[in-house]
Amino acid sequence: MMKTIFVWDIPVRLFHWSLATSIAMLFITAQIGGNAMEWHKKIGYFVIGLILFRVVWGFVGSYHARFKNFVRTPTTVIAYAKNLFKKDSAHYVGHNPMGGLSVVALIASVGFQTATGLFSNDDIMLEGPYVSMVSKAFSDQMTRLHQLNSNVILILVGLHLSAIVFYAMFKKEQLIEAMLTGKKEMDASIGGQFKAEVPEKARPAWLPWSVVVLVSGVVYALVTRIFF
Ligand code: HEM
Ligand code: HEM
Repeated sequence: MMKTIFVWDIPVRLFHWSLATSIAMLFITAQIGGNAMEWHKKIGYFVIGLILFRVVWGFVGSYHARFKNFVRTPTTVIAYAKNLFKKDSAHYVGHNPMGGLSVVALIASVGFQTATGLFSNDDIMLEGPYVSMVSKAFSDQMTRLHQLNSNVILILVGLHLSAIVFYAMFKKEQLIEAMLTGKKEMDASIGGQFKAEVPEKARPAWLPWSVVVLVSGVVYALVTRIFF
């Protein structure tokens, strides 16, 4: 019996597609350089907000958005990885154990990228807002990390997209549709994992909006250096 299950709430979906678009624009603006770097900075600040939002949402969001429901121990991740190429391995409504790991890696690497960006300089016109607080040597070091880590992000996004193709072709699971519509069609007889997960209603609208207001304030304070 097929059953439609609510998986990704609107905040997770908006977060996801905003992040994907922003990361693409950040690489494009970095490539163009010059005046485009003004946009690089602005979009980078927006991404700080996205990441902070997602971290808070990982605690107060709906069931499948919460970290505790998809961040697994290394043992579980390894056990899942061992069965990856078995067609009858467990299906998950939310992120599977390897997917959970990739979410943490993506969020951490993008977060680190924005943090180093705040201290980066391009030796011409753009400086992160905290450059004047540190030595030139430290800023150059952060710029190098910003350059290095941008490759880490590229690799993780490459893996991310490969995994989605792999699931579509090999496992016959269409993950993209769920990230667009929020819903998944699951075979209710699929077994243990499916039954263990509690389908839950969306959060009331005031909750994500409150987090947005809070996070916007924090980002504003951070980039205008109200506190430091
Ligand atoms: C720069 C580009 C991208 C980044 C940084 C990125 C990042 C992420 C992150 C952080 C998540 C976890 C969502 C959450 O729980 O909050 C996720 C999930 C997902 N992303 Fe992306 N994404 C990118 C591009 C794409 C593209 C282009 C597609 C599809 C064509 C896509 C499809 C998906 C899907 C289907 C999931 C859910 C996976 C699952 O069911 O476990 N992503 N992505
Ligand atoms: C997730 C967010 C970000 C991504 C993906 C990103 C990506 C990149 C990339 C790919 C480059 C080119 C590196 C190279 O030359 O090889 C770059 C350069 C730069 N970014 Fe970002 N960036 C982000 C956020 C920020 C933020 C928040 C700032 C702060 C204002 C910033 C400031 C800079 C500066 C000053 C450069 C020039 C460094 C240089 O001369 O190489 N970035 N960024």
